[in-house]
Amino acid sequence: MIKKRKLNKLNLIILILSIILITIISIILINIISKPKLSKEEKELQKKLEILNNIDQKINYFNYNNIDRYIEYKKQNKQLSNKKIVLYVNINLDKKPYKDAKETTYLYKNYILLNKYNLVSKTYKPKNLVQVNTEYAKENLLLTEEAKNQFILMAEAAKKENLTLYAVSGYRDYNYQKNLYDKYYSIDKEKANEYSSKPGHSEHHTGLAIDISNKTTSYEEFDKTEEFKWMQKNAHKYGFILRYPKDKTNETLYQYEPWHYRYVGIKISTYIKKHNISFEEYYVKHIEK
Ligand code: DAL
Ligand code: ZN
Repeated sequence: MIKKRKLNKLNLIILILSIILITIISIILINIISKPKLSKEEKELQKKLEILNNIDQKINYFNYNNIDRYIEYKKQNKQLSNKKIVLYVNINLDKKPYKDAKETTYLYKNYILLNKYNLVSKTYKPKNLVQVNTEYAKENLLLTEEAKNQFILMAEAAKKENLTLYAVSGYRDYNYQKNLYDKYYSIDKEKANEYSSKPGHSEHHTGLAIDISNKTTSYEEFDKTEEFKWMQKNAHKYGFILRYPKDKTNETLYQYEPWHYRYVGIKISTYIKKHNISFEEYYVKHIEK
């Protein structure tokens, strides 16, 4: 009787062990069968993403077409975070200025971006160009209607505080910009590229850019004026941004221009102000993703 019971117990243990073993083997087999085999290309992509610490999982502006450029840029800029690598390459900062510059598709939009990598054609002309009243601008100064209306609202608000906003440059067509650039280039050579755009690349060509002075101080010294302080606090409320700030020259590729404002619309200007980013950063993160 005792022997029989022992035998039963032994059988039970063997049965349980067998079940456990079969379960383990099944799990291993299911895993092997169900796991898709990665192709050579997929394995290569995985490796590349690992070099970038799989940053693609954390940001929505990662562009898989740029992956080799990210890796190359990272090799040359080891101090930069992966997020910055992606941002800078998306801006095209890994390329030489003006090389492979592309004609923008966002024509007539308030969020059109022109810089050393984006341009408009020689014949591009913004719609609804209107003159700005000479109380607030030089003679024959043109802006798009919306930018002009917002500029006037802004200038009137400043006037209530005894401040003068006066536009000294607005819309400039291709030929006007060409003459300007050629003149500066003949004087300053390559240095001219730090402050003057080649024709087709200037945001003045969009009718959305304004150079502002206070009438009594030269526009180059606008940041020494009370008007500049006011603009720092208020420009975004009317849809304007300081387009070439002091702390963003490595992204805009233009020197600090305290006088040059760009109309982008209130939603975008408010976002840019709040996050203290360049228009380039805004553009690659929110427009051209
Ligand atoms: N000064 C700005 C960069 C222009 O020429 O458009
Ligand atoms: Zn300007």
